[in-house]
Amino acid sequence: MRLILLGPPGAGKGTQAARLEKKFGIRQLSTGDMLRAAVAAGSPIGVKAKAVMERGELVSDDIVIGIISDRIDEPDVANGYILDGFPRTVAQAQALDALLVKKGSKLDRVIEIAVDDGALVERIAGRYSCKKCGAGYHDLHQKPKVEGVCDSCGSEDFLRRADDNAETVKSRLEAYHAQTAPLVVYYSGKELLHSVDGMADIDKVTEEIVGELKAIGA
Ligand code: AP5
Repeated sequence: MRLILLGPPGAGKGTQAARLEKKFGIRQLSTGDMLRAAVAAGSPIGVKAKAVMERGELVSDDIVIGIISDRIDEPDVANGYILDGFPRTVAQAQALDALLVKKGSKLDRVIEIAVDDGALVERIAGRYSCKKCGAGYHDLHQKPKVEGVCDSCGSEDFLRRADDNAETVKSRLEAYHAQTAPLVVYYSGKELLHSVDGMADIDKVTEEIVGELKAIGA
């Protein structure tokens, strides 16, 4: 199954992708995570991406298309993947279409997680993750079972993302509305889009997505 999770910053793409990865055994491919890894490693791509990400703008199409093109060729995703944060522009969507045609494969579904702008800032401000295994949490909506201890790996070290501040979130939302939201129309026109109510609680959103994926034979 090849799936795209589409939605604004803080909509819950990463949260839902991690759950779908476990449920269906297909890999989550997050361009945000890949770019953050490149920044942390100080690679040439990371050096180019760092300042752009700190401003909350989009990294160039060439860079992210290159990253995804290489990644979807790897054997661990031969049976499918969940794209989280890609595509983010019409040019990226067209490039993905061309890559899939070249590989003789196709997308099965594009799930839009729709959330009101007002809720996103609060979600992003409260977000943190385990430093060791990356499991995601929220100060209010997704606390670890034991305070200060990661449910998944037991680590007591957590971190917050550098771009999760009020100023950058504003730019990220502007970039979403100007450059990414047109993909709703793009994929709707291809009859691939299914929209879920991302204002519902996390379990309910998972239930809705899983229901839709089962309906198409996942
Ligand atoms: P990226 O890492 O992709 O960030 P993003 O799109 O801004 O999305 P987030 O990771 O912030 O949010 P999410 O939807 O995954 O929400 P989450 O599940 O964590 O991109 C970062 C940057 O990299 C970009 O700004 C850009 O510069 C660059 N980049 C990446 N891809 C690119 C591309 N293709 N092209 C160009 N540049 C690119 O949830 C948020 C919080 O809310 C969590 O704490 C969670 O617990 C909570 N939560 C989740 N769901 C719910 C719910 N239903 N109810 C209540 N709380 C919830």
